Amino acid sequence: MALTKTICFTNNKGGSGKSTTCSNVGAAMAQAGKKVLLVDGDMQLNLSLSFFSEDEVLRMAESDKNLYHAVLRQKDLTDYIVHTAYDNLDLVPSSTLMSSIEYELFPKWQREFILKRCLKNIRESGEYDFILIDAPPTLGGWVMNILCASDFVIVPVEASPWGMFGLANMFDFLQDVKNMVPELSVLGIVVTKADMRKGYFKQTMETLSEMEEIYVFHSFIRVDSAIEWSQDSSAPVVEFKKGSRSAKEYKELAEEVISRASR
Ligand SMILES: Nc1ncnc2c1ncn2[C@@H]1O[C@H](COP(=O)(O)OP(=O)(O)O)[C@@H](O)[C@H]1O
Ligand SMILES: [Mg+2]
Repeated sequence: MALTKTICFTNNKGGSGKSTTCSNVGAAMAQAGKKVLLVDGDMQLNLSLSFFSEDEVLRMAESDKNLYHAVLRQKDLTDYIVHTAYDNLDLVPSSTLMSSIEYELFPKWQREFILKRCLKNIRESGEYDFILIDAPPTLGGWVMNILCASDFVIVPVEASPWGMFGLANMFDFLQDVKNMVPELSVLGIVVTKADMRKGYFKQTMETLSEMEEIYVFHSFIRVDSAIEWSQDSSAPVVEFKKGSRSAKEYKELAEEVISRASR
């Protein structure tokens, strides 16, 4: 039976490419024949919007078949899975109500491990090769839940001065979580929205390479307008425009993620 690997995408900085990377790595893994479950952990619904129209996403968000209701009632996520238009690729959609999830979970027993319990049956079934979780741009109790449910974390970082600012806080937080779940490991940092014409890109890579013990993925993602057009069409760029530069970069990244997570 396959061993399911759970990977989350976190960075408290908004706009760092978490949702774009989660959706495209997931879709590229599915194209490579891996069975993938995506979990939208953010009230902004961006991961859900990568695969479904606004109307469909809002309908799912307003129904009781989404992550918020599953977590609140501590239900098995199996019953909350929807199929995307692509083979091997399923999703648990989110809800705008996720904004209050921290408050709702506060009084619960072992509150950091609720999402992990919701995913237990799916993981044990071995049905999926990978579960990818998209996190919101925060560092609180809900992100703690996402990290405690994961084997690995990937940190997307935007190649910009403000993208780099606050990274130390992010890694301090990850260290706190690792004290609770020592099995959790940082799979690596992926640089996104890189603009090769800017000198700052080179500086970003140099600064990141000085961070000892943190792997920086060889594949990085350059700025590409095809990404925004794909999101406008509710599709990941690896499906929307297969020949685009960012589609190729995301396919390479997915291969690197698969090989690092399978070691
Ligand atoms: N490589 C890229 N090229 C151009 N735009 C990008 C790229 N990656 C992400 N974006 C855009 O940047 C914005 C933030 O990306 P997103 O994935 O939503 O970040 P996060 O989930 O960390 O907030 C989105 O509008 C997205 O379309
Ligand atoms: Mg996002």
